Amino acid sequence: MNVMQPVDRVRGAVHDKERHESGHKHVSGTAEYIDDIPEPAGTLHGYLGLSQRAHAEILSVDFEAVRNSPGVVGVLTAEDIPGENDISPAHKHDDPVFAAGKVEFHGQPIFAVIATSREAARRAAAKVKIDYRDLPHVTDVLEAAAANYPLVIDPLKLERGDIDAGFAQAKNTVSGEMRIGGQDHFYLEGQISFAIPGEDDEVTVFSSTQHPSETQLMVAHVLGVPSNAVTVNVRRMGGGFGGKETQANLFAAVAAVAARKYRRAIKVRPDRDDDMTATGKRHDFHVDYKVGFDDDGRIEAVDAVFAARCGFSADLSGPVTDRALFHADNCYFYPNVRLRSRPLKTNTVSNTAFRGFGGPQGMVGGERMIEDVAYALGKDPLEIRKLNFYGGEGRNLTPYHQTVEDNIIGRIIEELEVSSDYAARRQAAIAFNRESPVIKRGIALTPVKFGISFTKTEYNQAGALVHVYTDGSIQLNHGGTEMGQGLYTKVAQVVADEFQVDLDHIKVTATSTGKVPNTSATAASSGSDLNGMAAANACQQIKERLVRFAAERYGVGEADIAFEPNTVRIGAERIAFADLIKAAYAARVQLSAAGFYKTPKIHWSRAEGRGRPFYYFAYGASCSEVSVDTLTGEYQVERTDIIHDVGKSLNPALDLGQVEGAFVQGMGWLTTEELWWDAKGRLRTHAPSTYKIPLASDRPRVFNVRLAEWSINREETIRRSKAVGEPPFMLGISVLEAISMAAASVADYRIPPRIDAPATPERVLMAVERLRAARAAGRDDRAAKIVDD
Ligand code: MTE
Ligand code: MOS
Repeated sequence: MNVMQPVDRVRGAVHDKERHESGHKHVSGTAEYIDDIPEPAGTLHGYLGLSQRAHAEILSVDFEAVRNSPGVVGVLTAEDIPGENDISPAHKHDDPVFAAGKVEFHGQPIFAVIATSREAARRAAAKVKIDYRDLPHVTDVLEAAAANYPLVIDPLKLERGDIDAGFAQAKNTVSGEMRIGGQDHFYLEGQISFAIPGEDDEVTVFSSTQHPSETQLMVAHVLGVPSNAVTVNVRRMGGGFGGKETQANLFAAVAAVAARKYRRAIKVRPDRDDDMTATGKRHDFHVDYKVGFDDDGRIEAVDAVFAARCGFSADLSGPVTDRALFHADNCYFYPNVRLRSRPLKTNTVSNTAFRGFGGPQGMVGGERMIEDVAYALGKDPLEIRKLNFYGGEGRNLTPYHQTVEDNIIGRIIEELEVSSDYAARRQAAIAFNRESPVIKRGIALTPVKFGISFTKTEYNQAGALVHVYTDGSIQLNHGGTEMGQGLYTKVAQVVADEFQVDLDHIKVTATSTGKVPNTSATAASSGSDLNGMAAANACQQIKERLVRFAAERYGVGEADIAFEPNTVRIGAERIAFADLIKAAYAARVQLSAAGFYKTPKIHWSRAEGRGRPFYYFAYGASCSEVSVDTLTGEYQVERTDIIHDVGKSLNPALDLGQVEGAFVQGMGWLTTEELWWDAKGRLRTHAPSTYKIPLASDRPRVFNVRLAEWSINREETIRRSKAVGEPPFMLGISVLEAISMAAASVADYRIPPRIDAPATPERVLMAVERLRAARAAGRDDRAAKIVDD
């Protein structure tokens, strides 16, 4: 036995600030994305042909010019699909791969051209001649409601207390409405799939997907083959943000059908305009609300309807609109409440998952109510927030009847108020506004509480596969996908910690349906919670076998064996980890294990609107200050301070990056990112020229972000960490509310400014003018209907 000196700790274990495992490859261009995979000889390229009508019957299609175009090998339509022409993730059979007979949105795929190059396929697709017979179309959510358009899925109702009694006893009531815009995912790597046919009915698909198991199922379904014939692989995505949870399936299905038909490798990659046109986005909402409150601003009753533009099919609109309702309370106790969803069909692309999954829209609605109460009473919105926080006797029950048990928002807000110097800066802004005729300042401090777990209970499970090789190196595979968030790094850290080996002994391999089956989407921020636990479970199985072996081999008790940094202590001696592995292999000990995990405690009945859908909550708060030019509506974020709760962080460096990135993405959603459909139902904002995501220059001038390093998850999550992917997105709300305050200053902060989201400079300018006019007229315009488009 080698005698080893113990070292303090392993490199890159859990809780270390470890860099992203591919960070150096991202910046040097050596990280392999799907378009970088070497193409086999004879690879062909597919390009989609999209509908030019929002709602129409297809009378005839003339492909002659398409087929005669240079490089064209063939054309695929619905008739070429061997299995079912459907990729509905909700299993509602309402999501065709190729429209057949009629189209339901402008941009819907009707066919694909297969050609020798992508450019040849793209040019050929534009040469199609289609005869349509137009049908009436509806693109807007309010128009859909007025036209009694169908719902894409049954609505949800959450109810508690007695709202009639609540409103009857409330001294004050405000009602209003708000529009909340959608958002394009703007992942850097667009949608892409690359399919390679195998023997018999087999196909391997490299897909930029957050949900390889569902992509596998959809490809199998479309091909009419069993799932065991389809393998889906993804090493990494260049961003997903929810936009590749279901939307990747279309491209995978088309590539697979073509690979099967032509028996060649096929790649399908739309250009950015078509990607933005043909794939779903964040749902935009219209919120109708009524809130009752006392003279202090304590809420007594809330009644709200959240209507969403779902697009032409169900996709994930059910769970997305559900999650909006789950977050309309944010951190606030509503004694009497009724919340209803209205998932409306429209003739637009089917909307889908996007960071927060409807939660942000619900939360913005809830925060708008707080703002209205504050401006109606002439008070600081933060005072109204604190008055209504969950906490205290009988004030911890959510509208879905889950008790809030882990509330830490009070401490976070207290710390942020101090570190951001909120009170003094608010007074300074008010003083500044009195003297400054054009530039106005606003400051807002807003909280976040976000529920963690998939509301679809069966999704809360995960698997992992861990191999230890005879040289002591470890290969890790799990069901989660890497999209830049750092999941692969975090799970590898868990494995390093379990075996007590340095992180560089562990290689994470591409996610593959052939290695870990029946996985859930990497979504709902649950990637590290689920896959971290599954990987730990696999390691523990191998460790148990190693301990049993070592005890027997070296004649010591199992309790006297411990995994220490890069060594194993066996009684009084130490042996290198790799040496123990070698000895275990020679003794025929199995050095590979499949791990599994399922989240405990959760349950949910949608029919009753009751349960414990969330294992725990993640919290955070942000304070933003803006300057607004009241002559142009333009604004600038001067400073943002954030404290965010990730429990005991698995990796503070990655978590900080997630918080910063999510805040900026949330700010973009609520300020400059505007989706705009014209009267024909065409999306006119389908490129960065017309769709404005935040630039580096739009970031807050001063940006102080820190983790609540004292926080620890009271539930037994992986190393007591909390999910981080989505919750900080909603920290962006402080920017919207700071803009509100700046606008409200022109009317002495007594009229709710009610700026719809996104608060583009145009909307801000219109709000300022409206408020100035209302003030000049000397009337309190707070009940006026203010929908400005
Ligand atoms: N971070 C990066 N860099 N890229 C992404 O695409 N997606 C977000 C978030 N952070 C995303 C990201 C979304 S929508 C989710 S649900 C989570 O990451 C998913 O990963 P996780 O569960 O491992 O946190
Ligand atoms: Mo994230 S919207 O759950 O992929």
